[in-house]
Amino acid sequence: MRLFRNRIKRAQLEGKKNRMGTALIILAAGKGTRMKSDLPKVLHQVAGAPLLEHAMRAGQALDPDRIVVVAGHGAEKVEHCAKAFNDEAEVVLQTEQLGTGHAVQQAQAALAGHDGDTIVLYGDTPFISSETLTRMIAARTDHDIVVLGFDAADPGRYGRLVTKGETLERIVEFKDASESERAINFCNSGVIAARSATLFDLLSEVSNNNASGEYYLTDIIGIARERGLSASAVRCSEAETMGINSRAELAVAEKTFQDHARATAFENGVTLTAPETVYFAFDTVIGRDTVVEPYVFFGPGATVESGARIRAFSHLEGCHVAQGAIIGPYARLRPGAELAENTRVGNFVEIKNATIDAGAKVNHLSYIGDAHLGEATNVGAGTITCNYDGVSKHHTDVGSNVFIGSNTMLVAPVSIGDNAMTASGAVITKDVPAEALAIARAQQVNKPELARKLFDSLRRTANLKKKKAS
Ligand code: UD1
Ligand code: MG
Repeated sequence: MRLFRNRIKRAQLEGKKNRMGTALIILAAGKGTRMKSDLPKVLHQVAGAPLLEHAMRAGQALDPDRIVVVAGHGAEKVEHCAKAFNDEAEVVLQTEQLGTGHAVQQAQAALAGHDGDTIVLYGDTPFISSETLTRMIAARTDHDIVVLGFDAADPGRYGRLVTKGETLERIVEFKDASESERAINFCNSGVIAARSATLFDLLSEVSNNNASGEYYLTDIIGIARERGLSASAVRCSEAETMGINSRAELAVAEKTFQDHARATAFENGVTLTAPETVYFAFDTVIGRDTVVEPYVFFGPGATVESGARIRAFSHLEGCHVAQGAIIGPYARLRPGAELAENTRVGNFVEIKNATIDAGAKVNHLSYIGDAHLGEATNVGAGTITCNYDGVSKHHTDVGSNVFIGSNTMLVAPVSIGDNAMTASGAVITKDVPAEALAIARAQQVNKPELARKLFDSLRRTANLKKKKAS
């Protein structure tokens, strides 16, 4: 039965692979020497996601049938990253980096049978938008090859797009360009779209007879024109085409992303009191009328609903904050923190994998992990869920309207019933029934006048020592 099901699934996949559609080739074999890093360049992060993932995400909007990542340096790590984002992505190896044309050729076998368009992206260029890629695919209706170009403020070493009216005649690399060609500031972003068969057919004619001794992908334009095929360029802003080659450029990319994310937050009705100090991840979502105070950091996977307040110096990732909640200052919400309406999480409080129901408060110096807090429960200062026994994690369940006394240790697994209380300083190792008060600490003993006597004796000893020393 299972064999049969697998066969059907495989047939469905094959069917999907063979219909007309778009394929993505993402070039990611380069070493990125200028990064001076043990990590492949495309795995360095902007806004909490690897560069490669940004490129894959943009391409995802085209609903590609196939995704082929061309890896070389650090191929295993690159493969891991690509598959983590989309487990249908195929990773092919380019053992020697002989040029962008050669790199694209490495994807040919993986795209066998693909009859639609292929779009080539670079893994180190994170800001190409889905809209731009969609425009390129639309332009393919009228042209055999579509290249993404941009007007460069400083064309530097980019390949130049040689056009005649609407037609793109060829692309000339800086090293091979004449003086007049170098004067062109319409440049090649590197993104190219063509029908798969056309792309590989043209590539088979590309040689490495040029100033770099490389197989240039860009040469396919001239070859196509000689054959009477049509080519055109779609324009995008220079900011979209930014490629990352060094740590300095990575920092510029981060800043570019953050400036854009802050502007988007304003447009969505979010108040940022000191926008330049707030950092967003690629997927941060913040609702209207939420206020984000200075120095707040959002890691991946954070969603904040409308009308919440994230106070200064808080750090949030993998969490959800509902309407009207107030977080911080100095709060840390880790993955799995799920905060309902009007909850309060105060200073030096860490919440991980825990659901906090509406109106519950954890205001000071606490760790709440692997737990559930019921509605309107109040957790006193210094409370800790002791969730880890050194081997496994355990759950703590606290009911609604509970009062957890300051400095309570909740030794998991443990549960506290509704309307219960724990005495401050309690170490709770057994379940507490609803409405009960749990006291679990040493009895207090008062010794009359003993403090004064002790102080006297201590002072006498200290004075004797001082006299001896002088
Ligand atoms: C390339 C273009 C140039 C364009 C510029 C935009 C060519 C010949 N030139 O030049 O027209 O203006 O990008 O940034 O295409 N790669 C591989 N394997 C290789 C070579 C490159 O995977 O053998 C990858 C790199 O990792 C990188 C991308 O392809 O992600 C571009 O390669 P790079 O060497 O930076 O090309 P440029 O010389 O900048
Ligand atoms: Mg480059």
